[in-house]
Amino acid sequence: MAARKIVITSGKGGVGKTTVTAGLGYALAAAGFGVILVDADVGLNNLDVALGVEDRKLYDFSDILESRCRPGQALIRCGERDLFVLSSGAETPAMTAQAFRGVIESLATSCDFIFIDCPAGIENGFHRAVSAADEAVVVTNPAVSAIRDADKVLSLLTGYTLSSVGIAINRINGGKVLSGEMMSAADIARLLRRPTLGIIPEDAEILLGKTPAHNGRSEADEAFGAFADNIASRRARPYDYLSAHRGFRGFFRRRA
Ligand SMILES: Nc1ncnc2c1ncn2[C@@H]1O[C@H](COP(=O)(O)OP(=O)(O)OP(=O)(O)O)[C@@H](O)[C@H]1O
Ligand SMILES: [Mg+2]
Repeated sequence: MAARKIVITSGKGGVGKTTVTAGLGYALAAAGFGVILVDADVGLNNLDVALGVEDRKLYDFSDILESRCRPGQALIRCGERDLFVLSSGAETPAMTAQAFRGVIESLATSCDFIFIDCPAGIENGFHRAVSAADEAVVVTNPAVSAIRDADKVLSLLTGYTLSSVGIAINRINGGKVLSGEMMSAADIARLLRRPTLGIIPEDAEILLGKTPAHNGRSEADEAFGAFADNIASRRARPYDYLSAHRGFRGFFRRRA
């Protein structure tokens, strides 16, 4: 078994790469897959923080590269499922794109999916993360500046050997889309001309720092479930983020 290696990237920073990596990881692990989440944001390591396991870290990516541990020893298990995170650690001269790719390859025999959480920007860290992957998901939010930067990154990705490139639209607000204040997911997909794998609504729980897909009950949990289904089955069936805002439910929601 060789895991699918998928990089989660974006043009603009702060649009939700780490949130998407964590949410997808939980949803795929809940569906029974073995998942490793790799933090490629070297020097910042916020993925273990987003998953609430930073206190349990013994080793990180730089320890592997400097031979202080084996790759498997640096994995932190998140909960009961087969979900693991590998923290990024500090930038070291040993952290070359080739060495990074080598560690990812060595982990690929032990799980179904490896998600690589890309740092912001398009410099060294971006190149390192993307060149270790064979598929990519570009995250954007509905702001014009984020969409424009996502488009630039999509062009950059054509320079890499990737078997599939899709998009994820984060922080969409169905009520605002229906009232014409926010661009719809379909409009964004038309601009970016790539399959929409995930649509995640704006969710106050996420903003408070809670990772979704814990109990499957919130709208974001549902959206990550649909996103995970699309990834696992290699299709792009859009999540209906507007249904909660239409009809009876939507009427009360809009009045609330
Ligand atoms: N769907 C959402 N609803 C509400 N808040 C969200 C959502 N997605 C992300 N956020 C919030 O937005 C902020 C940035 O998210 P996140 O850290 O995932 O972005 P990022 O792209 O990884 O950032 P960076 O480029 O710095 O790595 C966080 O405070 C997060 O809680
Ligand atoms: Mg991040």
